[in-house]
Amino acid sequence: MTNLETQLSKFAETDWLAAVSEMQENVHPVDRDALQIWFRFYPLDLRKYIADAEDQAVAMQGLAMQGDFDLANHITTSHNFLYGHRYWPTVKHTIEKLAAEYKDEDDRLLDIIKEVGILVAEKHKVERELVNAITAVGLATLAQVGLEAFSVANGEIAEPKGIMAKSPDAIVAERAKDDPQGIMGFLRSINKKFSVDFTACEYSGKFPVVNEQQMTHAAAQDRSQNWQEKDSRCWEGPIPVECTSASCGTCWIGVIGGKEKLSEVTRRERRAIEVFGYNQPEDEKPFLRLACQSYAHGNATIVIPPWNAVFGKKVRGNVEDIVLEPNTTSAAKLRETIASAMSGD
Ligand code: FES
Repeated sequence: MTNLETQLSKFAETDWLAAVSEMQENVHPVDRDALQIWFRFYPLDLRKYIADAEDQAVAMQGLAMQGDFDLANHITTSHNFLYGHRYWPTVKHTIEKLAAEYKDEDDRLLDIIKEVGILVAEKHKVERELVNAITAVGLATLAQVGLEAFSVANGEIAEPKGIMAKSPDAIVAERAKDDPQGIMGFLRSINKKFSVDFTACEYSGKFPVVNEQQMTHAAAQDRSQNWQEKDSRCWEGPIPVECTSASCGTCWIGVIGGKEKLSEVTRRERRAIEVFGYNQPEDEKPFLRLACQSYAHGNATIVIPPWNAVFGKKVRGNVEDIVLEPNTTSAAKLRETIASAMSGD
């Protein structure tokens, strides 16, 4: 292990999240929620829980884990929803160089992030607020996967396309807009039409949504591709889905644009945030939602994680007693596993 890895290994998940919170003012709004979301999609505590388990397969099964949780498989793509993703080759190279040179020092996490961020910003002649988020993600990736996997990962990225090719301010403005409703749009109420932009590690696109429509219902109408080939959890449309009743936790999404235009978080969804372990600040409109509990009142931009699990009790100690509410899933086996993951047995 290099000195840099040793130093990074001293920081717990709470240290990373504290650093991310402290950095917020120094991150451009285009990546503020995206940075928070990335750290929820790749929780260090969960990774440690699995790594420390006697039998990792059994541990993952006990968390009702589905999909591909391993960040080592997504080193280049896990952050493709950040504006700063375009600087990834430089971030990767700068971190590798620092790992080779880092002396046995006792830097604070924020100091290390700052050191890399300064070099990346200088190289691209941009403000540091545009590179701070991707720099933090890069260092957290190194801390989780180790230098060997980090270095061999293909560092090439695709040119930003569509809205992501615009300036950071233009992206923020664009995400806040709703689709035009036409000349008579002001007369429409329930049949207003909007769009949801989505990004997953390996795919992206856009689907239409009608005013007040559940996000998973709208996504299910998108049959333009074989989504299940891309992610086995995608039974209907690009958002993974199972019960549609806040019971299975398959449909978590990160919301990087338009979170204020989604329906209120219900008591049931708040409870799910704790039970499933997707901790976040108790904002009125949080950046992580269950898509099956979110109803659109405007355009939204969402991110789909490549995995889901029930780790609120075993990893976070979030909940004492769980009463599994009735749900509609037909997957009895999955329901049993979820029940046991929730109870901690
Ligand atoms: S689909 Fe099961 S919680 Fe949303």
